[in-house]
Amino acid sequence: MNAPMPAAHDDLRDLQDLPSYPKERDDYINPARALLTGPPISPLRFAGGSVGWLVTGYHEAREVLRDPRFSAERWRGDDAMRPVPESVRRDRSSGAGSFLAMDAPEHGHYRGQLTRYFTVRRMRELEARIEDIVADQLDALEAAGKPADLVRHFALPIPSLVICEMLGVPYEERELFQSVAARLLRQDRTDEEFVAGKTELDTFLRTLVEAKRKDPRDDLISLLTAVDELNDEEIGGIAGLLLIAGHETTTNMLSLGTFALLRDPGQLERLRADESLLPQAVEELLRYLSIVNAFPVRIALEDVVVGGVTITAGQSVAVSVPAANRDPALVDDPDTLDVGRPRSSHLAFGYGIHQCLGQHLARIELVAGYRGLLRRFPGLRLAVPRRRSGCAATWSSTEPTNCPSPGDGAGPDRARPPHGRNRHMGSTHAEFM
Ligand code: HEM
Repeated sequence: MNAPMPAAHDDLRDLQDLPSYPKERDDYINPARALLTGPPISPLRFAGGSVGWLVTGYHEAREVLRDPRFSAERWRGDDAMRPVPESVRRDRSSGAGSFLAMDAPEHGHYRGQLTRYFTVRRMRELEARIEDIVADQLDALEAAGKPADLVRHFALPIPSLVICEMLGVPYEERELFQSVAARLLRQDRTDEEFVAGKTELDTFLRTLVEAKRKDPRDDLISLLTAVDELNDEEIGGIAGLLLIAGHETTTNMLSLGTFALLRDPGQLERLRADESLLPQAVEELLRYLSIVNAFPVRIALEDVVVGGVTITAGQSVAVSVPAANRDPALVDDPDTLDVGRPRSSHLAFGYGIHQCLGQHLARIELVAGYRGLLRRFPGLRLAVPRRRSGCAATWSSTEPTNCPSPGDGAGPDRARPPHGRNRHMGSTHAEFM
């Protein structure tokens, strides 16, 4: 972030040849170099064509994310990825309950109904159950033989099972929400695909909420049906947000984190030698990988000056979490993975009122997942050469598509393309073979 600041631009429409956004990563691990070497805030052109701003500096990112003059209501401006179709934007009821895209006080009304279920204490109570789920998936990975697909047997099922159990969504229905999530988050999706996917998920969740209202069980959706202020549409929206936010991100952290450790044997050995480093290693992996790729985006409600630049009312501002987390203003030597690094105030879970509701849950899943893998498979290694592994850039994240092998016997020649993963996540994967 050492480059000079850009001059404030009075009329960005005059600017030609602006860099586009989102940017492909240089590889699965590292954000595009241009993001790391540019000024902390600079003009860019969004996928929808409008001109806005890109924030890559750590302090500037925090400034935007905590400032109520920036709105999270996505329908007001341009999105980092392909814009939400006009028909969906116009239909405000289509976002009922989905508080990720709401501002205060509406945002607090919905989030406030959930915070008590996501406290550190509540999440600790789930720890034993999460460890059981991890153990089952380690068995599944082993049973799959060598080489096994880490994503299909481990990284995807763990967070999906956990969030399904919490919400009371039958796990048998995972294909539906996993594939809908994949379709909605793709950069190359069509408007028709977006509308069809959203309708499918909304219908499924609405039917589920109605069933829980009639026959409540011991799960979060049932608990929400007892809240007078929430109707079925809103509960469905909350459940959809939790289902999607609760599985895709953690899946990508489990898979990409394993990949990062396997390609850095020194760090992997440090962790194996001292498991007590795991909680801080998880924080470091969250910072270093910053899997939320093209999010968050905010829209200025009035003219706001950030880092000496005037952002005009109505303009969209994309915060690059990967770049902000690699800013030397946050940590020394930010491009190095250091599993012993003291916990940093990274932005991997965002900042401000929208900071990730599921962060304590994600941490527990990640510690349990990495610990389980390290203990069960001392010979864990990549089954295909690194340069042949695939990588996907989706709305939220970047995930490796290949399959580290749980044992020593598998060689590159035995690796298979991860059909299941591509089918589930459906993102723009380069196949790894
Ligand atoms: C490693 C895993 C995860 C990462 C990196 C992550 C990242 C994020 C980020 C960056 C945001 C802020 C978005 C913004 O400011 O616009 C966010 C919000 C959110 N996340 Fe996560 N997340 C993870 C796991 C989870 C899990 C497991 C759940 C649910 C169980 C979850 C639920 C949510 C919800 C509901 C929000 C919206 C919060 C709000 O608007 O108030 N996330 N997440």
